[in-house]
Amino acid sequence: MRTHTVPGIRSSKVREGRDPLVMVTAYDAPGARQAHAAGVDLILVGDSLAMVVLGYDDTLQVTVDDIAHHTAAVHRGLRASTADGPSPPLVVGDLPWMSYHTGRHDAVRHAAALVRAGAQAVKLEGGRKRLPVIEAIVDAEVPVMGHLGLTPQSVHAMGGFKVQGRQHDAALVLRDDAKALEAAGCFAIVLEGVPDEVAKLVTDAVDVPTIGIGAGRATDGQVLVYHDVLGIEDRMAPKFVRRYADVGGVSVEALAAFADDVRSGRFPNDDESYHLSAEVSESLSLYGSPSVD
Ligand code: KIV
Repeated sequence: MRTHTVPGIRSSKVREGRDPLVMVTAYDAPGARQAHAAGVDLILVGDSLAMVVLGYDDTLQVTVDDIAHHTAAVHRGLRASTADGPSPPLVVGDLPWMSYHTGRHDAVRHAAALVRAGAQAVKLEGGRKRLPVIEAIVDAEVPVMGHLGLTPQSVHAMGGFKVQGRQHDAALVLRDDAKALEAAGCFAIVLEGVPDEVAKLVTDAVDVPTIGIGAGRATDGQVLVYHDVLGIEDRMAPKFVRRYADVGGVSVEALAAFADDVRSGRFPNDDESYHLSAEVSESLSLYGSPSVD
C-alpha cells in the first residue's frame, strides 16, 4: 500500500512499477471524507473553488484566505474521517493567483498560511520563471507541486482556456520547464491540457510523477475536479471530463420531493416530530393549546 507522504508520492513513477496516482479536488469536510473513503492518494484544495463552489467564471477571484478557509475544512474532515484502510490522502493547497507572483517573501508567507490551515504541500502554476519562488518555498520546508501546460491563472495571457504545447518548440519548452521544476525541488507536476504525446515526452523526461488533467494516459496519475466527477457542475464540461454520477440530478430530485412533501403536508410526519408527555400535553390544553401527540 502506498504511503500518502510527500516522499511516498514523489517515488510514484508508473515506469517503476507504481500504480497511477489518483488526485481529486475537495473543498470541504464531507468531500474530504468521501475522497478518503474512496481511497484517493491526494486531495487538491484547488483554486477551481472559484468556479465550482463560489460561482466565478475563472480562478482569478479566489484569495489565500479563501483557500486557507477551505483547506482547514478539508483537514478537519480528514481528522474526523472514519475510513478504514488507506492512510488519509495528502492534502495539497493551491496557491492562488497573485499569492506568489509578487516575490519570494509573499510566496513563502502564503505557502505557510496554507500549511497552517492543514495543507502538507502547495501547488503553483508556471515554468522556469517561477523557479525563484519554488526554491524559496522548498527552502522553507514546504513541498511544492508544479503545474504546467494549460495554467488557468494565465487565462488572459493564453487568450482563453486553450490546449498548450501543440507545436514542436512549445512541446520542448514544456519538457524543459518540467526538468527545471524537478531540479528546483518540485515533488510532482500537474500537466493540464496538453496533447498526450507531449505528456509522454514530459513524463519520460522527469523522475518525479506527472499528474494529468486533459493530458491523456501517459502521465503517472490523473486528477479531476470533484464536481465534475460527481456530475454536480452543470456548466459545459471539457472533453477530458468523465462523469461518474449524476449527483446534481439526484440532488434536484431530492429537493423537489422535499418541496412537494412540505406543500402537500406529508412532511414532517409523526415520527419526525417531538411530542410532549400525555400529562404535560393535557395540562397545556387547559390553556387552550391544541393537543397534538
Ligand atoms: O484548481 C484545480 O482544480 C486545479 C486542477 C485542475 C489541477 O488546479
